[in-house]
Amino acid sequence: MENQSSISESFLQGISESQKQQQLFFGIFLCVYLVSLTGNVLIILVIHSDPHLHMLMYLFLANLSLVDMGLTSSTVTKMLVNVQTQQHTISYAGCLTQMYFFQIFADLDSFFLAVMAYDHYVAICHPLHYFTVMSPRICALLLALCWVLTHVVALTHTLLMAQLSFCVLGEITLFFCDIIPVLKLSCSDTHINEFMIFALGDTVLITPFICIVISYIHIVLAILKVQISGGSKAFSTCSSHLCVVCVFYGTLLSACQCPPSVASEEKDMAAAATYTVVTPMLNPFIYSLRNKDMKGGP
Ligand SMILES: *[C@@H]1O[C@H](CO)[C@@H](O)[C@H](O)[C@H]1NC(C)=O
Repeated sequence: MENQSSISESFLQGISESQKQQQLFFGIFLCVYLVSLTGNVLIILVIHSDPHLHMLMYLFLANLSLVDMGLTSSTVTKMLVNVQTQQHTISYAGCLTQMYFFQIFADLDSFFLAVMAYDHYVAICHPLHYFTVMSPRICALLLALCWVLTHVVALTHTLLMAQLSFCVLGEITLFFCDIIPVLKLSCSDTHINEFMIFALGDTVLITPFICIVISYIHIVLAILKVQISGGSKAFSTCSSHLCVVCVFYGTLLSACQCPPSVASEEKDMAAAATYTVVTPMLNPFIYSLRNKDMKGGP
């Protein structure tokens, strides 16, 4: 019964047992985390201080930066503290809390990418209707919908997880509490949890992805059909968004445990490190290159 209160969390156990190596990883993760925070804060400050950037596209980008900061903070901070204190454990309540916030930020990330894709689609394919389709009221509605949906999904998973019992002191093979690794430690019947992961997980990650793909198919077709001289310019405005989408979904797919035998622990760990630390750091850089384009262009 006492064991239920704490789940041991192993950070990079398979990869580095030695303290020296752990200190190296600590340094790398800390640097990347600080760069990521700084970059995202700068993006938000720049967008809000420059009236030219008070376009919906950029406001969504500021929202994406905020979510990215949440995504890294919810996972990396606890891990950094654990490495420093040499105490690789997390309480059961802490684990559930981390799981809740990680899901919210990860799902919001994919929803915002989908909303941005839709925004690009409307801007390129229906430029004359842009301000009626993407009115501030509709955007506020979209934002609210994203927040409500992600909270409902995360709450469902977390409450279902809270019903389970954990008989032995388990070890998570990741450096933060994600649903599937924690689920594996439970000794209760996890069929409902697995079904909900299958049903809801697909909704929150695959639906936005399908929206993004459909938006881009329309954008490409429009550019090919119209053959306007500005076609390549129109597409170049989408390229940074497309880059972020590829990085985000690419790492998620590589972390996908579809064939469980293939997914090794180290691969999972590397993929998790990428989508919790590296992807959120890359977004500001990918987009600030684009901002320079925008400033130099007109
Ligand atoms: C998020 O987007 C909304 C409008 O779409 C905007 O009003 C708000 O300021 C944005 N949030 C941040 C942190 O930029």
